[in-house]
Formats: sequence, structure tokens, C-alpha cells
Amino acid sequence: MINKKIEEILNAQINKEFYSAYLYLAMSAYFDEVGLQGFSNWTKVQAREEVDHGMILFDYIIARNGNVEFKQIEAPTGDFHEPLQVFEMIYEHEKSVTASIDVVAGMTEDECDLATRNFIDWYIAEQVEEEKNVYEIIKKMKMFGSEKSVLYHLDLELAKREYRQHKYS
Ligand code: FEO
Repeated sequence: MINKKIEEILNAQINKEFYSAYLYLAMSAYFDEVGLQGFSNWTKVQAREEVDHGMILFDYIIARNGNVEFKQIEAPTGDFHEPLQVFEMIYEHEKSVTASIDVVAGMTEDECDLATRNFIDWYIAEQVEEEKNVYEIIKKMKMFGSEKSVLYHLDLELAKREYRQHKYS
């Protein structure tokens, strides 16, 4: 059975992951509107991964005989006006998720919940990957500038991203 403090913070993390999905979908809609279908694809795939992140927490809480509790998901906020600015916003968002996962990991140690400490390692590694993926795109945009041809080629590259489901096992 999971301890109540851990159950509460994992439920809060579910909400953050689903909020992340909303945020990426809002960005995907923006990119689609301005004709960048590759950027739209990349953020849509990311939204699906965020739902997986929430569902892995959901399945873990149930596996530990805990209670899943849903809170209201905030509407995504943000003024999207150009691809680099949106990706910088994504980078800041992912850094905040990393900080949130670090707090969860710290609490599992304080509460001596080694099962959840072990479980949360997957998220720690996933955040390293997520920050890296975003930062690499930002670096490319900064290195090659914002001319239309650069965006066009990057859009083709981002169109190749495919969704691969992550599951709790
Ligand atoms: Fe689930 Fe992008 O953090």
C-alpha cells in the first residue's frame, strides 16, 4: 500500500503530465495554423507521450493499491508567435517538469518509499532525454537562423517523428 503523501504527489504529477499534453496540443494547433505541419506533428507526438507519462503514474498508483484522484486540468496559456519562441517555451516547461520530478524523488527518499524511488528513476531519465531533444532543436534554429528555407528543412525533419507508446510494466 502506498503512503498518502506519496499518493498525493503522484496524483499531482498526473495532473502536470496531462497539462503538458494540453500545452503541446495547443502548440500543435498553432503550428498547423501557420503551415508548419512537421512542427505540428512533433508537438502532437509529444502530447501523446505526455498522456503516457500520466497513464504510467495512474497504473503505478493502482498497482500499489492507492487511489487515483483527478483534479481540474488548467487551460494551456501562452502566446505562440514564432517557432524558436515556442521551443524556448517548451524548454522552460520541461525544466519545470524535471524540477517537479526531482521533488517527487526527494519525497520518496524522505518517506523511505524505495519502490516509488525505483519507479521514479524512469521519469528522471526521461526528463534528461526530453530536455536534450528540445535543446537540440533550439540549437539548430539558433545556428542556422530563421530564414524560410531553414524552417522548411527543419519542418521536414520534425515531420518524421513517430509516436511510440510508453507503458507501465
Ligand atoms: Fe512528461 Fe515532458 O514531461
